[in-house]
Amino acid sequence: MNNDILILGIETSCDETAAAVVKNGREVLSNIIYSQIDLHTIYGGVVPEIASRKHIEKINQVISQALLEAEVALFELDAVAVTYGPGLVGALLVGVAEAKAISFAAGLPLVGVHHIEGHISANYIEHKELAPPFMSLVVSGGHTHLVNVLDYGQYEILGQTRDDAAGEAFDKVARAIGLGYPGGPKIDRAAKSGDPNAITFPRAKVGDSIYDFSFSGLKSSVLNYLNSAKMQGEEIIVEDVAASFQQAVVDVLVEHSMAAVIERKEHRLALAGGVASNSALRAAMKRACDKEGIELFYPSPVYCTDNAAMIATAGYYDFIRGIRSGLDLNAVPGLKLGER
Ligand code: KG4
Ligand code: ZN
Repeated sequence: MNNDILILGIETSCDETAAAVVKNGREVLSNIIYSQIDLHTIYGGVVPEIASRKHIEKINQVISQALLEAEVALFELDAVAVTYGPGLVGALLVGVAEAKAISFAAGLPLVGVHHIEGHISANYIEHKELAPPFMSLVVSGGHTHLVNVLDYGQYEILGQTRDDAAGEAFDKVARAIGLGYPGGPKIDRAAKSGDPNAITFPRAKVGDSIYDFSFSGLKSSVLNYLNSAKMQGEEIIVEDVAASFQQAVVDVLVEHSMAAVIERKEHRLALAGGVASNSALRAAMKRACDKEGIELFYPSPVYCTDNAAMIATAGYYDFIRGIRSGLDLNAVPGLKLGER
């Protein structure tokens, strides 16, 4: 008898239409991502209405391709896992409606997955030995969370952003210095030929919580720098601004993560989310972890940004714990981590 568990994952929370088939939570059989980035670039950010429409157009094609590449038929699946929050409501609804339709038509169990849980679970794909407990820093376009992963599906949120998410700060600053959308990878690239010590930008502290983050002050400080340089007719070296801004974000992320790992006596730290593919963050976190004897994990870039393999993986661990969603599953744009 074949005891393998095959999960179809579906992800449509923002601007990626994605489907994947994952075996036993850790082996990716297919990972199809249709990125809408080009459509949104001209507007400087994601336009929710356009995202929803494109998801509707692409979702069936993406799912068919995921099944085809995995060489898996619908009836061979054990469950369908879908992101139901947090995210853009219209975008989430497309994936949720699709997953419910497949679940009903093929008689498959349905598992609603939390998007951030998916990002954290992306680490399981390439690090077969990684299992809770560990500390995780989730840094994406919409979220910045420092999470103690106590067990599969059990999270203690130690800190989060009070305003902008880390990725959002990257995107806004990139727009201000003329690099365009999406800002993270562009700042990452420009910063390689810039001086991170050229300009001193603030490292924000949130008074009453050592683990919370705030990036809006840093963003304003970059905007002020740009304005005053322009007014005084000084030359703006984009690479230096990018590198100095990036360094300020990285310093705060490293400092908070290390404080959490040390205080909670964890030995492992896993990065997750789009910003986890930032080269300066990875390098600085590695140095800090090596110094403290902490093992650092992060997914390959394709599993850092939005994808459905991470949703199938998270869905697998929910599925084997007996978690099921009903056909009344709805999109929950403001879903909190740990809530169902
Ligand atoms: O996880 P993700 O795909 O979507 C959300 O769930 O939000 O993250 C997208 C974010 C964007 O803000 C993008 O600029 C950022 O991740 N990002 C990066 C890098 N690659 C993507 N930020 C910094 N450095 C990168 N290399
Ligand atoms: Zn995401």
